[in-house]
Amino acid sequence: MKTYLVTGGSGFIGSNFVRQMLQNDTNCHIVNLDKLTYAGNPANLVDIEMDERYSFVHGDICDTDVVRQIFHQHKPQIIINFAAETHVDRSIGSPDDFIKTDVFGVFTLLEASKEFGVDLFLQISTDEVYGSIAEGSFCEGDPLLPSSPYSASKAGGDRLAYSYYVTYNLPVIITRASNNYGPFQYPEKLISLFVTNALEDRDLPVYGDGKNVRDWLYVSDHCSAVHFIIENGKLGEVYNVGGGNELQNIHITHQILEQLGKSADLIKFVEDRKGHDLRYSLDCSKLNQLGWMPEHSFDEALAETIHWYQSNEAWWAPIKSGEFKEYYKSHYNMAYEGE
Ligand code: NAD
Ligand code: DAU
Repeated sequence: MKTYLVTGGSGFIGSNFVRQMLQNDTNCHIVNLDKLTYAGNPANLVDIEMDERYSFVHGDICDTDVVRQIFHQHKPQIIINFAAETHVDRSIGSPDDFIKTDVFGVFTLLEASKEFGVDLFLQISTDEVYGSIAEGSFCEGDPLLPSSPYSASKAGGDRLAYSYYVTYNLPVIITRASNNYGPFQYPEKLISLFVTNALEDRDLPVYGDGKNVRDWLYVSDHCSAVHFIIENGKLGEVYNVGGGNELQNIHITHQILEQLGKSADLIKFVEDRKGHDLRYSLDCSKLNQLGWMPEHSFDEALAETIHWYQSNEAWWAPIKSGEFKEYYKSHYNMAYEGE
């Protein structure tokens, strides 16, 4: 039996990964270390929390004592570091926690992995570390040019992990995925925010002219790629993980409104994000040649995602009615309707 330490397992991608892992591998033990920041939600894993193959530790990846105690007690062979501060807008307003968690937190986990020994340290990085590209697509060997405090701190964690492979022979692999969407995404990111706003007949705040391009990856495809890379990836390598769905934000906005039968009048063009990257694009041929491809088409998976938010208002409504109100007002400088 293999023991996995999954950090950030109570967040969006981490919780999808934990659930998928428990479904696919009956002979595993997963320890989830999560600080439960605003983005970490125990409700994301309520269906599996009693599974005897699953343990939860409430703690910070920056806390050396907590991390060492987990390694001592559970002796994990595979570390998958999802834990991070993840929202670009929050990093622009207040970068401190990004630098702590996304750089120092990675260091803490790497140190414990070096001390106790592991079979694999998988660092979940992001396509944002490359920066924006007007034409063509980034390959894994291309230089990194991150442009927000979020992507710069992720680039720090990404390269720090690589340095432990080169310097200490720690068995490290790094993944750089594109924009995820799907169930359990905190309603602050483009798709989760716009779907839930539309369901409440609130405005959809499109930054700038809405022509920025992202490549959209369904979360279960990202999770299957992580699983595939654990089984088949080569140590010391970086793998781009993309969905092959490059779309302008305004296109997605209209698609959401059409599926929900809502008026385009809900669209509000607002001030652009500072330092807003125009386009992300990944060349994923390295991972595709190894044998992994995404399974979901964007149109079908977006429809499923919208349907999930329609059916799970009990999950997202309390988030949006609580501290999210304050966040909305301070970030968009717009009154939150319904007050
Ligand atoms: P998320 O914000 O939904 O969840 C992050 C989780 O990490 C939360 O459960 C939070 O409580 C936890 N966490 C934060 N700081 C912590 C700390 N110091 N110690 C322990 N736990 C902590 O994030 P997500 O969207 O699921 O992203 C997961 C990972 O995937 C991140 O590393 C992110 O950079 C990367 N990624 C995300 C996307 C995307 O589109 N969402 C794309 C590519 C890569
Ligand atoms: O590319 C991978 C990255 O994708 C991850 O590493 C990050 O953790 C994740 O947050 C995401 O970053 P983005 O900044 O691309 O995602 P976000 O959903 O915040 O924004 C997507 C696009 O939509 C971007 O061009 C900004 C725009 N946008 C976003 C919001 C929240 C709007 O126009 N209005 C909005 O209200």
